[in-house]
Amino acid sequence: MSETKIAIHGTGFIGLVSGCCFAIKGFKTINSTYDQIKCDQINKGETPFYENGLEELLREALATKNFKCVVGRKYAVLNSDVSMIAVGTPMGKDYSINLTFIEKIAEEIGQILQNHNQYHLIVVRSTVVPGTTRNLVGKRIEKLSGKKMGEDFGLCMQPEFLAEGRSILDTLEPDRIIIGELDKKSGDILQKIYGVFYEDHLNNCPILRMNLESAELVKYGNNCLLATKISYANEMSRIAELVPGVDIVQVMRGVGLDYRINEKFLRAGVGFGGSCFPKDVNAIISFARAHGYDARLLRAIMEINEDQAKHTVDLLENELKEVKNKKIALLGLAFKPGTNDMRFAPSIRIIDYLLEKGAQIIGWDPVAEEEAFKIMKNSILYADKIEEALLDADGAIIVTEWDEISQLQPNDFKKSMKTPIVVDGRRILDPTKFQDEITLLSIGKR
Ligand code: UDX
Repeated sequence: MSETKIAIHGTGFIGLVSGCCFAIKGFKTINSTYDQIKCDQINKGETPFYENGLEELLREALATKNFKCVVGRKYAVLNSDVSMIAVGTPMGKDYSINLTFIEKIAEEIGQILQNHNQYHLIVVRSTVVPGTTRNLVGKRIEKLSGKKMGEDFGLCMQPEFLAEGRSILDTLEPDRIIIGELDKKSGDILQKIYGVFYEDHLNNCPILRMNLESAELVKYGNNCLLATKISYANEMSRIAELVPGVDIVQVMRGVGLDYRINEKFLRAGVGFGGSCFPKDVNAIISFARAHGYDARLLRAIMEINEDQAKHTVDLLENELKEVKNKKIALLGLAFKPGTNDMRFAPSIRIIDYLLEKGAQIIGWDPVAEEEAFKIMKNSILYADKIEEALLDADGAIIVTEWDEISQLQPNDFKKSMKTPIVVDGRRILDPTKFQDEITLLSIGKR
């Protein structure tokens, strides 16, 4: 059992997963939220969103008696040594980062620390543009608490790299830990916590210490490079489509085997979505622009990503001559398999473009229908089964690589569709098996 008590402000992917992980590693942990319903759910062992293995982990954390969730920040701050900030930093209307929730939590912590005479370490875990931890969080806490940063309270920035669907594994077995620190004392406290948390895992997981701003930029550097790899693969797939017989899957396999590159994140397709890549790449483009730099490469990455969704529709349209009043089935709506998350999902861009062209759309997804409905409402139809989506369809686009879709056979399309024309936006159908049976248009293979 560790002496250090941790408060985690926020109950999203980062907040709830790390809260549970700290508890099972023997830390007294309090998660805080403003949502009473969410709080009650969590304390009963129910997760407020779907994540692989999280419900079991939450129950395990509750069983240790180390873990609880509370409403409001005060109890959590006053009963802990460290406050980790894991609130959302969504994309604003102008594509820049919206720091409203960060500002609010900093003010709340500042007010609470006013009458608290114990040193408290504040660790920002949310993704924030460089300068935010020091100039917004640190200074706002100083102003409201009347205390001095570096003396009365410490400040760190520790970016989080977890991917949805593997949040628990990414938290328990990260490949590195980045500690941005205001001063040595702050960094030492955090490093000591991770010494207890990770024990032997640290033999394979370097801890890098740096200043706050560098740590903030590591997170953007990471997501921007991964997004770059995807847009690069998508651009190469467009070039591959110019040459008969070339297959982007083979090309990227060949490229990825270079020891300097690696094959991960080189899968061409309908483009990337999710809660991080689109938001973070846009946030850093806006940040650079506000500081007088035009981030041309990153702008191109977003442009290619937007375009890729349209390209899947164009492929179908070329084959059908027009999509107006045609029934188009979308197989998969979530931004990736294993989640019901629809944030910035490529399906949204595809649907918008298809609707602009007057198509009638029916979507199928094994888990994301409810989330999709919140965004698309009745602008599309929803099918309970794949067969229902394909029935009498003039064309289909594969948007998410769910197993149920990878397992489809040529006959599944032939028997249900009016014309079996399928765009494989994720390269999950084997062209050699399908090409003589249906019209298969695979991304990156003409
Ligand atoms: C990502 C990062 O991986 C994670 O480190 C960060 O903390 C948050 O953002 P996540 O958004 O959960 O995680 O999903 P990820 O698996 O990275 O996929 C993001 C998107 O890229 C998905 O839409 C996926 O389909 C797409 N993708 C991924 C591709 O199109 N091609 C690839 O080769 C890989």
